[in-house]
Amino acid sequence: MDMDKIVALCKRRGFIFQASEIYGGLNGFWDYGPLGAELKKNVKDAWWQDMVRNPPPGPDGQEIAMVGLDSAIIQNPKVWEASGHAAGFQDPMVDCKKCRRRFRADKVFFGSLRMEVGGPEVAAIAVEADDATAAQKLLDEEYQRLVKKKKLRGEILHGVRAATDFHPAEKHHPCPAEGCDGELTEPRTFNLMFKTYVGALEDASNQAWLRPETAQGIFTNFKNVLDSSRVRPPFGIAQVGKAFRNEINPRNYTFRSREFEQMEIEFFCHPSESKKWYEYWRDVRIRWYSELGIRSDRLRPREQGEKELAFYSVGTTDIEYLFPFSDEPQELEGVAHRGEYDLTQHSKHSGKDLSYFDDELWAKADKSAYGGDKKKEQEAKNKPPYRYVPHVIEPSAGADRFTLAVLCEAYAEDTVGGEARTVMRFHPRLAPIKAAILPLVNKEGMPEIAHKLYRELKPQWNVYYDDGGAIGRRYRRQDEAGTPFCFTIDGQTLQDNTVTVRHRDDCKQERLPIKEVPAMLANALKPPQR
Ligand code: GAP
Repeated sequence: MDMDKIVALCKRRGFIFQASEIYGGLNGFWDYGPLGAELKKNVKDAWWQDMVRNPPPGPDGQEIAMVGLDSAIIQNPKVWEASGHAAGFQDPMVDCKKCRRRFRADKVFFGSLRMEVGGPEVAAIAVEADDATAAQKLLDEEYQRLVKKKKLRGEILHGVRAATDFHPAEKHHPCPAEGCDGELTEPRTFNLMFKTYVGALEDASNQAWLRPETAQGIFTNFKNVLDSSRVRPPFGIAQVGKAFRNEINPRNYTFRSREFEQMEIEFFCHPSESKKWYEYWRDVRIRWYSELGIRSDRLRPREQGEKELAFYSVGTTDIEYLFPFSDEPQELEGVAHRGEYDLTQHSKHSGKDLSYFDDELWAKADKSAYGGDKKKEQEAKNKPPYRYVPHVIEPSAGADRFTLAVLCEAYAEDTVGGEARTVMRFHPRLAPIKAAILPLVNKEGMPEIAHKLYRELKPQWNVYYDDGGAIGRRYRRQDEAGTPFCFTIDGQTLQDNTVTVRHRDDCKQERLPIKEVPAMLANALKPPQR
């Protein structure tokens, strides 16, 4: 996997372009071209189909109740006060006083070293890394480089610390940028939400934010959904949509963007069952990536340690992918147990009761214990197990991150008949073009037959008609676009109504009656049976 080659192919073949490229682009924003738009749509459609319309059976083999939602990007600003984003959605940042670069303080690490064994001189070095383990590795390498350069035998003093752990008394907080010997500032916080104004006046009373996650729109509609749909816990609300974060360091292509799409589920359940549902969603979500062709050796579920967990959470698993731009796997999705935190926060801030009353359980309850005392009965009714604030399990995935992982995973180079080719080995469900219909030559009635087949397939799938150039070149074009099947109408078609099916991955060819093409395609593209 070579990121530069993947990026070049994405531009050349119309998967991803820099946003407003003709004006020099805009850092952190990306546009999806014709093939990329199809690919990302297929990612979102597969998620919706497999998680909302037809989720796998629950832990006890039961049907899972899931409904969809499409909430507004701009919400009442009070939503972000309740969720904690207005106050807390701030990353501590450090700036280099010399080169003016800005870094997230939790991604810069300092290490100390002596340039002579036992000697007095202790210098600090800095590296950018995702965590302390990765930082230690980089610091070791940097130290070896320094020692070699200065031909000194020294020692590294172990125990790295992040720039968030700033010690003003220490003299030296070096910039991690290569070639820069500047000093970093103390960490300062930076608001990641994009500000806007609603209405004509740009004053504080009209200030609003572009949502930094889709999740809050789900919590604020919890009661609306309960009251309007026949769902009751355990059930989930799902949403796909844009989110915006004014990331300090957009980087690694689309991986960290300022505008991106999320695919989020908030699954509401009884507190006593939340562990079971957390494990269910963690396993379902890991399996989903494998089913769509992500190899297990590049996919890593990482259960967060107790210290990493948010204070309200009993468990979070990051599902990570080993991208070619990093030595360490990076987060595609977080599956978090959020307890009752969000619904309680919104109850407090809105003054609306977001607890759930289990009327079915109450109807079955033995009320004789209250001896006809209506007050006691009312009190019991308003307490668990009849009334409770549901716990939430949140599988929160990034559509752009997964699309990028799919592109990286699919990219391959091989040789066919002695000729080099680039091929995108997408899972057929995700492939932007499902099949190409190719008349071998533009005569003898072949275009007519090919066009008829194309018209027959087009209402159901994104298929492509191509009659331009030698057949080998047409196959190569489809390989680069990741089209899993080519149907070629050739001389034999005229005799026996069969077509050549050419398979993208192994280039094998076989004959198939033309009337069986739709069924063959439907079979290859069908979602997994549950
Ligand atoms: N509601 C929980 C939430 O938003 P998050 O870990 O901040 O959690 C969830 O985001 C997912 O959204 C991430 O796992 C990632 O896939 C995606 N995501 C977050 N920030 C992103 C960014 N700047 N660019 C692209 N995707 C991002």
